[in-house]
Amino acid sequence: MLLTQNSPLQEIPLAGGQIRLLIKRDDLLHPFVSGNKMRKMKYNLREMRRRGQSKILTFGGAFSNHIAAVAAAGRAENFATVGIIRGERPAGLNPTLRFAEECGMQLRYISRSAYRRKEESDFLESLQKEHGDFYLLPEGGTNCFALQGCAEIIEEIKAEIIPDYYCVCCGTGGTIAGMIQGAEGKSEILGFSALKGDFLEKEVEKLLQNCGKKSYTNWSINSDFHCGGYAEFTPELIDFINKFKAEYGIALDPIYTGKMFFGIFSLLEKGYFEKGSTVVAVHTGGLQGVAGFNERFGNIIEV
Ligand SMILES: Cc1ncc(COP(=O)(O)O)c(C=O)c1O
Repeated sequence: MLLTQNSPLQEIPLAGGQIRLLIKRDDLLHPFVSGNKMRKMKYNLREMRRRGQSKILTFGGAFSNHIAAVAAAGRAENFATVGIIRGERPAGLNPTLRFAEECGMQLRYISRSAYRRKEESDFLESLQKEHGDFYLLPEGGTNCFALQGCAEIIEEIKAEIIPDYYCVCCGTGGTIAGMIQGAEGKSEILGFSALKGDFLEKEVEKLLQNCGKKSYTNWSINSDFHCGGYAEFTPELIDFINKFKAEYGIALDPIYTGKMFFGIFSLLEKGYFEKGSTVVAVHTGGLQGVAGFNERFGNIIEV
């Protein structure tokens, strides 16, 4: 049964011993519905059932962790899934899309311009005509139910330790928005953006507001470690991910968690975290994407 576990906190030994670094291992929640995907889906699945629905329709790119997770959840929990994929169907399916199909997800490919209309009501109505009644899950699984699930990451951590800093990586900002609620203005929450640009803080504020949640001043988004932008990377990032796995036995993905830990370790070196403080970093999963990444770039991440 999905959505029942509590993930462990694992301490990473750091040289010098002045800072404690612990990892909230949400990547271990489920092999395919891992990390923040599980958190975001928890209350959405409840809501879908409450409404008596049995099909999820959602959106994502060709390598999307979210698409893989929804497909896997549908197979595990016996509901139908439709994935609206940005761009043309590739001649050979990548591991993410292959997996989604194997899970029984119906994939539909639309142009990038059509994809940009994914929140417009007439576009959604046309999807309804085509696919019948469905529960709509936005791109990345981010909505108010997702925030509720992500707040529980913090509740679980707080039951064990109250850290000085929480760290998390950010795409749509849904995960950090939920965590901000959970932390209620205490401890500092540091988001690491996987994307270029400084729009995320506004997005997070908007999410909090739309969901009727309070905002606080104890969080910020660091945009210094996107390594060139979404899904871009540098040799230093890949080297870091491989060394991290060799040293601590924990796999990271190159799109999200690799960039966050790369950022955390750079900040540690610069003395950003106050001496004597405890940092808890959330491992949000995303490891399904490594196979597709390696397929494209020649096995540069050691698995
Ligand atoms: C593995 C992983 N971590 C973090 C994120 C970012 O989460 P959010 O979109 O809620 O900011 C994502 C993507 O959505 C992801 O797939």
